[in-house]
Amino acid sequence: MKFFIDTANLDQIREANDLGILDGVTTNPSLMAKEGIVGEAAVMQHYKDICAIVDGDVSAEVISTDYAGMIAEGEKLAALHENIVVKVPMIKDGIKAISYFTRKGIRTNCTLVFSAGQAILAAKAGATYLSPFIGRIDDISWDGMDLIKSIAEIYAVQGYETQILAASVRTPLHIVQSATNGADVVTCPLSAILGLLKHPLTDIGLAQFLADHAKANKA
Ligand code: G3P
Repeated sequence: MKFFIDTANLDQIREANDLGILDGVTTNPSLMAKEGIVGEAAVMQHYKDICAIVDGDVSAEVISTDYAGMIAEGEKLAALHENIVVKVPMIKDGIKAISYFTRKGIRTNCTLVFSAGQAILAAKAGATYLSPFIGRIDDISWDGMDLIKSIAEIYAVQGYETQILAASVRTPLHIVQSATNGADVVTCPLSAILGLLKHPLTDIGLAQFLADHAKANKA
């Protein structure tokens, strides 16, 4: 399972990249706004900065919701760097745009996916990645993991090549469950990635090892 970081914060991207386990980055308009990246020129430069840090796929989301607008924006984004993946919302014009980008050899990430039916449509259109939002499904008392599992089953049975990118991941447990249920990629905040490190027995064991070493090596 590939690890992407879900942020537009350059420091956090660098920190995750330095671990040597980062395969890519996803962003969205909310995450860009959170970093104060405003205006087309600044947004384009920011994507270039991200691509300079990480040697992996970087999802850049279109703002347009009409077919012509998405095509124009997506082509501009894709021309920025070979690692850019154009992120397109799961709407009717979005599916049409993904089909267009597929024909043109431009890679896509279909975002805001909340059902297996949507996942089938995106795969048919040739999306490179599919982003089911598991945290937001959990937020309304449904089970985001059930969706990942069901899409993984459908894609395996049908032989679809679209990669399942578990998104809206909030916790380390979401990452573990995504791996169990067949996600190809997980995109998550830095806190969830670092949360995977934590276990009290690791801390207790390390403290004991160091104490024993110090005692044995006392001058
Ligand atoms: O990748 C989509 C993600 O950014 C949404 O996460 O936590 O806003 O639901 P969240």
